[in-house]
Amino acid sequence: MDGNGRWAKKRLLPRKFGHREGVKTIDRIADCVFERGIKYLTLFAFSTENWKRPADEVSGLLSLFAGYLRRKVPKMVKNGVVLRVIGSARGLDEKTRKLIDDAYEKTKNGTRGVLTVCFDYGGRADIVAAVNKCVESGTLVSEETFPGFLQTAGLPDPDIVVRTGGEKRISNFLLYQMAYSELYFSDTLWPDLTEKDLDGILSVYARTDRRFGGVDEDDNI
Ligand code: IPE
Ligand code: MG
Repeated sequence: MDGNGRWAKKRLLPRKFGHREGVKTIDRIADCVFERGIKYLTLFAFSTENWKRPADEVSGLLSLFAGYLRRKVPKMVKNGVVLRVIGSARGLDEKTRKLIDDAYEKTKNGTRGVLTVCFDYGGRADIVAAVNKCVESGTLVSEETFPGFLQTAGLPDPDIVVRTGGEKRISNFLLYQMAYSELYFSDTLWPDLTEKDLDGILSVYARTDRRFGGVDEDDNI
């Protein structure tokens, strides 16, 4: 979800207004995603590197996150959406950690879909921690066992990864998990992303020929 700061800057507003608007986009897009029968939506909200931002921006993002958790749970329970948070949680206060646990406890039986928010998440940190868990438990690392040690355990690998805001890079997102994901880079700033944009992205995805390193049936002659 990139481009909140630029959205605000274009309007001569402080960056926090862009982040606020970005939260509204989460609601809009998450609703559309689950309405269309997609079962898993994973959002990169705050990276392990985002702590480098100015203290007031970081604290603004932390309080937006806590507010989101506090407000959204009843609706998610009603809609049957599981709210799961992954990331280190080390830099979060006790209250926010409790909100994370409560959100999952209250929503975990939902069957409509899973919304995973990556907060203080880094793909490298995830892999390194998983390797250490394997070593500590004496598990031989294999492609079968390893994903179960990542923080995304239980989630399927993403079919498509969408980055808004025009940059064409991965920025330490789900590094192991996106080995075969389709990548979609949109110039639209996250707060501007609409239902129509989402449908455009999904129709590009629907036309994609995914071979996972193989060849198409009809090319096999
Ligand atoms: C993404 O928007 C939101 C977070 C990283 C929390 P940015 O804040 O990176 O927005 P730009 O890139 O400055 O426009
Ligand atoms: Mg950015």
